[in-house]
Amino acid sequence: MDLNIPVSLFIFLLSIFIYFRGKKYPNPLPPGSLGLPVIGQSLELLKALKADEVEKWFQEGINKHGPIWKANLFGYPTVVLHGPAANKFIYTCDSNVLARHDTTSILLAFLVKVMANNESVYSNIVREHEEIAMSKPSGEALTWDDLTKMKYSWRVASEVQRINPPAVLTFRRAMQDIEYGGFAIPKGWQKHAPQPPPFCLVAFGAGPRMCPGVEFAKMETLVMLHRLVTQFTWELVNKDESFKRIPLPEFDQGLLVRITPIKAS
Ligand code: HEM
Repeated sequence: MDLNIPVSLFIFLLSIFIYFRGKKYPNPLPPGSLGLPVIGQSLELLKALKADEVEKWFQEGINKHGPIWKANLFGYPTVVLHGPAANKFIYTCDSNVLARHDTTSILLAFLVKVMANNESVYSNIVREHEEIAMSKPSGEALTWDDLTKMKYSWRVASEVQRINPPAVLTFRRAMQDIEYGGFAIPKGWQKHAPQPPPFCLVAFGAGPRMCPGVEFAKMETLVMLHRLVTQFTWELVNKDESFKRIPLPEFDQGLLVRITPIKAS
């Protein structure tokens, strides 16, 4: 195998690492360690994600270093900030983020699990969708107006996302050297606020870089849900199946569903 590319990449990342270590800022860098070049604490965080202990992992960081601390996550030096002011600071920054396209399918999987385990939630959802289906000529496509009637379903979906947000790691990159809470955040470093304020729904992020796909995701979710509950009977193969975050949530056996089309009478 040609080792030139990995070796050059390693040297490049190592020089960035040494540059940040050596540069002087008006404020001190936050406490904490950047760990090994490139790898830093990424493996530890991935392990915590897998065990669904990411909050505990970040809390251990606060216990050790206080509410502002540094680490090296996924190849970038990162400043981790805690508290409501930190959330506002992160979300109102206009810089890049980590976005993935499989978030809607994760939301749908959690919705299916919630419906399978909560009879009253399921029957309310079925009622909402049957009313919409019965108000239309058979076979007619759903309209935007129909989607606006799926209020209960979207409330359930929102609660599912509040409890299990599909995307938990949102990073912002510092576009210039900045100061926060008496510490320097150098240009190019990441910023991350791990804990949203209690009971807040920030599954789609917030501020100028909030998810632009929110309405599309809502449409995909509600249309899928409509098809599932009005055209099929179904049950989960394992109602108690657990999931791991790697880093996005994934069910251990893929959340298998036994599904049967409802025959038109
Ligand atoms: C349940 C589904 C989805 C969830 C939970 C979700 C969540 C998120 C989150 C948390 C962010 C980062 C926002 C921030 O930093 O403040 C984001 C960004 C983004 N999302 Fe989504 N997303 C979903 C579906 C979609 C879909 C369907 C699309 C495209 C059709 C999409 C496109 C994007 C893009 C392009 C960004 C980057 C925005 C930017 O950097 O300015 N997302 N999403």
